[in-house]
Amino acid sequence: MTAQQGLGATLQGDQGRGADLYMKFSDVGLRYSGQGPEILGGIDLDVRRGEVVCLLGASGCGKSTLLNIAAGFLVPSKGKVTVGGAPIAGPGADRVMVFQEEAIFPWYTVRQNVEYGLRVRGESASERRAKAARAIELVGLTAYADAYPRQLSGGMRKRCDMARAIVVEPEALLMDEPFAALDVMTKERLQIQFREICRGRDVTSLFVTHDLEEALFVGSKVAVLRKGPGPFLALVDVPFGPDRDPAIKTSPEFQALRRELSSYIEDDPANTKEAA
Ligand SMILES: Nc1ncnc2c1ncn2[C@@H]1O[C@H](COP(=O)(O)OP(=O)(O)OP(=O)(O)O)[C@@H](O)[C@H]1O
Ligand SMILES: [Mg+2]
Repeated sequence: MTAQQGLGATLQGDQGRGADLYMKFSDVGLRYSGQGPEILGGIDLDVRRGEVVCLLGASGCGKSTLLNIAAGFLVPSKGKVTVGGAPIAGPGADRVMVFQEEAIFPWYTVRQNVEYGLRVRGESASERRAKAARAIELVGLTAYADAYPRQLSGGMRKRCDMARAIVVEPEALLMDEPFAALDVMTKERLQIQFREICRGRDVTSLFVTHDLEEALFVGSKVAVLRKGPGPFLALVDVPFGPDRDPAIKTSPEFQALRRELSSYIEDDPANTKEAA
């Protein structure tokens, strides 16, 4: 069974079928320096509007690099990336990054943090206030709008960070292991909230994670990157519907897909070589 013919690919995914193409990677490759190794090479990926494409793969295989290309922070050494049909010209507020570490200011309240991006854009005080209130409500932090980050738990700070990212109404959220530092329960709550945000706002996402269950729970597609140049080890459609209850994680279908993904990562020749 090849990756593309895998169990997931035979079943109906929840998002993106027949939808508009949003981002397209065509034979993308990157070397950090002229003499250096090719980190990524031959990456082809179509990301449709509203999809959440999770990126999995061994440490150092180039997941963050791919995200940085999508954000416009890095220019590929070969191939082409388009957003909405046009080549990426550089970073833009239409594609916002979210990292493991929150990008919030400790000396600002939740509301001030969330309003910051709007202030930089020169939006009026009343516009800022209204948009920030909506974003804060969406992440369930209304009661803490005037609290400082130090008064919040790790999960609440991450929710503030998500509000900071969505308030500028991006078309895409580029998530680089956003929930990796959180405990299991908090992580699960944020995964649910993230899915709701993407669905409610028709946001597209590239979502890097090391957590196979997270990839299958939040993703509509999962791409497994190989270490070194070459196409994905696997590109799997996630078959679960839009209303996902965390209980699906214990279903035989979910567990079978998890094993399938795990086998692609273990079969990466680079991993075998390292283990030898
Ligand atoms: N600025 C840089 N200059 C040179 N090499 C780099 C740079 N950033 C990353 N690399 C190299 O590129 C490769 C891919 O790095 P990247 O951070 O994209 O991996 P990753 O898949 O995100 O890993 P992890 O799972 O550990 O976060 C690694 O070998 C890394 O050493
Ligand atoms: Mg990384």
